[in-house]
Amino acid sequence: MTNIITTPIFYANGAPHLGHAYSGYLADVFKRFHSLTSDNPCCLITGTDEHGQKILEAAECSQVGVQQFVDDKAQAFKALWPELAVQVDVFVRTSEEQHLKLIQAIWHKLLEKGDVYLGYYQGLYCLGCEQYYTAYELEDNCCPIHKMPVENKSEETYLFRLDAYRQQLIEHYLNSSDFITPNYYCQVILDYLNQGPLEDLSVSRVNIPLGIKVPNHQEHTIYVWIDALFSYITAIQKAGFDLSVLAQTTHIIGKDILKFHAIYWPALLLAADLPLPKKLIVHGWWTINGQKIAKSNPKTLISPKDLVDKLTCDGLRYALFRQKHVARDGNIVINELIESINADLANNFANLVKRNHTIVLKYFAGNIDAKVISRRALADESKLTIQYCEQAINEIFNYYKRFDFHNASLLLKDTLDHCNRFFHQQAPWEISKGKDNISVQETCLVISNLLRLVATAAYPLVPTLARQVLQELGEDIATCQWQSVCDIKSITINKALSHFKRLEKEH
Ligand code: MSP
Repeated sequence: MTNIITTPIFYANGAPHLGHAYSGYLADVFKRFHSLTSDNPCCLITGTDEHGQKILEAAECSQVGVQQFVDDKAQAFKALWPELAVQVDVFVRTSEEQHLKLIQAIWHKLLEKGDVYLGYYQGLYCLGCEQYYTAYELEDNCCPIHKMPVENKSEETYLFRLDAYRQQLIEHYLNSSDFITPNYYCQVILDYLNQGPLEDLSVSRVNIPLGIKVPNHQEHTIYVWIDALFSYITAIQKAGFDLSVLAQTTHIIGKDILKFHAIYWPALLLAADLPLPKKLIVHGWWTINGQKIAKSNPKTLISPKDLVDKLTCDGLRYALFRQKHVARDGNIVINELIESINADLANNFANLVKRNHTIVLKYFAGNIDAKVISRRALADESKLTIQYCEQAINEIFNYYKRFDFHNASLLLKDTLDHCNRFFHQQAPWEISKGKDNISVQETCLVISNLLRLVATAAYPLVPTLARQVLQELGEDIATCQWQSVCDIKSITINKALSHFKRLEKEH
């Protein structure tokens, strides 16, 4: 069955920033890993969230009309993903007709079931989050995320009977303690659910011109988060899948939108008689000079495209995962990213490939027959290196599977360290000074076969470099499968061009 991986849909009120790019990278690394390890396809969904007061206010400050404004922002996100080598399958926009129809149908269903009813709500609203807070959740009367004063609002609203699903949610979390990664969030959510009855959720706003109107009650606009969450379903429908694929769906989310995905979304799905998703992957925030990268703080805005121009596409995505654990927050320091790119990708990886392939081309016309080693059992150093790498690649597989791309990158680096150490100890270049020809062939054969495994394992993180290395080894990534066992096969190297330009540090 098809797997689905989603990013959140991004607010169409500004240009994409690095935090957004990171969500896309997480989804793309998983999709590429999946392509190596499964025969089933993996569909990557992303899009833009184009409704609500926040978008309207941003559009009103611009020179263009609202539609043009959101079209431009959606286009900026659409154009971003290929630049980051993020392979998007479906791009959904909440302004699409198909989405409008779906939301209206869902609304009717919830209303008919009695899960949604007209009432009245009074609360403290943060526009940045598009969410009500209780006084107890505030910090110095400000929103804990945006640190801005909240607005005291009281209005007629439609309400969703959230508490009707509390018990089912509790059971879900008790039965699937790995529903959220990292799984300590399951306990956080359980604690929240166990505190007592949940307040009904306000699911419509009055006087919000930009959004989907409540059917038959046009003064009300459907709450932007309801609209946004169900965009996952619109996207699944756009891709032509049956809604049963929801059960194979993994959502990538930042920690700031956990409650929407861990409480409201499953409750709404239960109410709509739809399957619950498979998993939520929660990531931390990127900061710059210690401040969260956010549209509301222009000093923190780094354009992902500028970073790609500076660090290369592979370089940026690799360095982000190398820098911090997915669930933690991390601070961006460009020179630190450059250091790890130079050390791991330029030196450890590309340079080893180039040196090895150059020797194979120069001294063996690009070919080494695996029979070389049957004539002579593998040397102990070769055996140990192979053994170490096989174990490491196996472990890297488990890291990817758990969305632990940070540890996957660290172990990949470590594996390449091992390969480099072996290469230097064996010094195959000394063939020019009369070193035993068979032992040089063995070294290059072992390294080439290990590089095949390593490049495949590196592909989700550094797709361009990995593809290039595999091509030189005569392999096509489209047909490559994950391998943890290193068979020593004959090799044919056709070129030695793999190169990763060292980057200059900033002053
Ligand atoms: N539109 C909602 C999501 C609706 S999903 C049904 C939204 N949009 S957003 O544009 O504000 O954020 C989208 C994602 O970007 C969130 O997962 C958020 O955590 C992530 N990031 C925004 N700033 C970030 C950082 N500084 N660092 C890492 N990711 C962060 O929320």
